[in-house]
Amino acid sequence: MKKVITYGTFDLLHQGHINLLRRAKELGDWLIVGVTTDNFDLERGKLNTSDNVMKRIDAVRATGLADEVIIEEYRGQKIDDIHKYGVDIFAIGSDWEGYFDYLKEFCEVVYLPRTEGISSTMLREEQAKIRIGIIGTGGIARRFVPESTHVNSIAISGAYNPDRAECEAFCRELDIPLCAGSLEELYASCNAVYVASPHYTHYEYAKSALNAGKHVLCETPLVLEKAQAEELFALARKKKLVLMMAHKTAYCPAFGHLVTLLQSGAIGDIVDIKAATTTITDLSSEKMDSARFGGSMNENACFPLLPIFHLLGTDVRDTMFIAQMKGGVDIYTKVIMLFDHASASFEVGLGAKTEGSMVVSGTKGYAYVPAPWWKTDFFELRYEDQNLNKKCFYPFAGEGLRYEIKEFASAALAEGYFYTKLPEKEIIAMAGIQEAFNRKHNLKTL
Ligand code: CTP
Repeated sequence: MKKVITYGTFDLLHQGHINLLRRAKELGDWLIVGVTTDNFDLERGKLNTSDNVMKRIDAVRATGLADEVIIEEYRGQKIDDIHKYGVDIFAIGSDWEGYFDYLKEFCEVVYLPRTEGISSTMLREEQAKIRIGIIGTGGIARRFVPESTHVNSIAISGAYNPDRAECEAFCRELDIPLCAGSLEELYASCNAVYVASPHYTHYEYAKSALNAGKHVLCETPLVLEKAQAEELFALARKKKLVLMMAHKTAYCPAFGHLVTLLQSGAIGDIVDIKAATTTITDLSSEKMDSARFGGSMNENACFPLLPIFHLLGTDVRDTMFIAQMKGGVDIYTKVIMLFDHASASFEVGLGAKTEGSMVVSGTKGYAYVPAPWWKTDFFELRYEDQNLNKKCFYPFAGEGLRYEIKEFASAALAEGYFYTKLPEKEIIAMAGIQEAFNRKHNLKTL
């Protein structure tokens, strides 16, 4: 019996896929189809699939052309499968011409003609879209635009900055269709807004966008006062809109799995968390301007507060701040937090640098995440018996913003219930800690 194998994502199964499967089947007597898992696609940086793996497998089965369906879940699996299933022919579309020649050592390789004029990408483009208007055209927005192209269902509709010349340069550079002269003009072009302006302006812009009926993805920190955060979430709820914090760490694969592993008891009960996020910044930059709520706590505290609130909850018994001040802002701050059953401490700095790792200590072992832990693709679980240590690796594609953008798009498209990895309660608690610092509560300065 001649066995043929082929692989694909088979998202939104279309005629091109069916033709390919038919041609592959005609090459032999038994057709095996490998469908990529969601995790494997994520690892390869393909974040744009619409259907999950179960749906894609069902669609391949429903063609009636596959004699056997398997899942493809790791790089290098094709060679293993050829041996395992005794495959005679590996077949794939001609868009891969030459790419799989290395398999010729193991079986015959056939590139089949691809059907013109159709692809999953084309079909995805016809689906519902989140049109995002960008407010603020600085460094983070510049990174956001190219990252958004990796996410399905997203289009950037326009940008707004009160500084018209800056906005025009931004739109020209990034090929954005509309350089809006006013917020109203921007809102008319979009159904969602990404707030990437200086953080002291977040509250006003987020509120204005929600009032205009737009979903909002807002850079960190959302706001610097607890009451403002509560007000914005209440408004979003009333308007049935998504309000999300653009916190890239919260949505990246390594951090997500670290949290669920620790919540499943991988290191026993958590007793302490230590984390630091320092990024040396030009002292004359806006980030250091005391009149504009600059400084290390306002700029960076949302990063270490993320694992702390995720893993220890938001019921903080006490917090103490020790800040090194210069020109009216903290260039480096150490924070000690007390919870009912655990402690936490973190350092943030814009004018001083320290080791940017994170350690979560538990009754059975600890998790170590090397610097920069807030954009990591790796962590290690360590135990008294070193034989039990486990190193875990994950994808972290590009700037890592694509994960939060994907989450935002899914939430906005869900039009109702959606699960968010960074709950409202934690964002409000972050604003509470930053407010306590700005109000000099338990603050010692140096
Ligand atoms: N294929 C084809 N003709 C098309 C589209 C896909 O023959 N018009 C083939 C591919 O060459 C591959 C298989 O179908 O052998 C599965 O491809 P897949 O990547 O899942 O489909 P695409 O539509 O190309 O997906 P995307 O647009 O996401 O790249």
